[in-house]
Amino acid sequence: MLIAAELKNLLEPSQLADLDITWLAADQPTPKGDWVAIVPLLSRWVGGTQLKNLPNLRIVANCAVGYNNVDLVAAEMRKVLVTNTPGVLTEATADLTWALILATARRLIEGVELVRSGQWTGWHPEQLLGLELRGRILGLFGAGRIGQAVGRRAPPFGLRILYTARTPKPDFERETGAARVDPTRLLAESDIVSLHVPASPETKGIINGETLARMKRGAILINTSRGDLIREEALAMALERGHLGAAGLDVYTDEPAIHPRLLAAPRTVLLPHIGSATEETRRNMAAIAVANVQSVLSGKPPLTPVY
Ligand code: DGY
Repeated sequence: MLIAAELKNLLEPSQLADLDITWLAADQPTPKGDWVAIVPLLSRWVGGTQLKNLPNLRIVANCAVGYNNVDLVAAEMRKVLVTNTPGVLTEATADLTWALILATARRLIEGVELVRSGQWTGWHPEQLLGLELRGRILGLFGAGRIGQAVGRRAPPFGLRILYTARTPKPDFERETGAARVDPTRLLAESDIVSLHVPASPETKGIINGETLARMKRGAILINTSRGDLIREEALAMALERGHLGAAGLDVYTDEPAIHPRLLAAPRTVLLPHIGSATEETRRNMAAIAVANVQSVLSGKPPLTPVY
């Protein structure tokens, strides 16, 4: 089997028992050959060509909860199973989402830069005034596992919650007082909009010039899901115009490239896709990906199939 070489240090030898492994570094192209399983990173595209070059492949065990790097239609046509790593990264990603909410609302990066630059002249009553969270509205665009985990952290901060979802989430509503609304209302009423829908043809570019214009003046946009959801240039323009208060982003359309206008835009906190980057979570993600392979190769069903 092929495993992303970058996962080597996160896996125990016992987890790799009985597997014949070829380690595949991120900068190497996906090879042609008789491999029966691949554990790719989310940065590796596994599409029709790659699947054709691996004619014996039985499983793509993606080491991520998102799987927009895999062509599911091509995989299904070739009867190749696709699995992901749901559950284990929920809390780490929710924590990082909150780090971005607090960093944007309270202008942490500007504060750090002011101190580091040596320009800070001392306490001033109007210095770096931010957004008070109490009484504001957090809009969760999508309320799957991660969206709900973000929402569960909101009541102690005094935030009210709106959320969008295909189906109501009664337990989540009972627990947090959240209210389900349509996307138009969520965008219009939220002080902070946090994106928690997966990347798909339906969600590509959902945050664009038009939807940004529908957001409240001064609102904050947070994205720890996938960069494809946002039109980066439109977001940069909304920040430049001052319509949007701030943006906290962990993901981008064309990683590791970031649209130059967004890189230069004011009031952003830009992180390098570290939502799930805790030691425990990354070990758990690698373990689930390999366990999916072990299960399928031993004739059992995959543990966490995506379809
Ligand atoms: C995922 O698993 O999809 C995350 O983006 C990794 O951090």
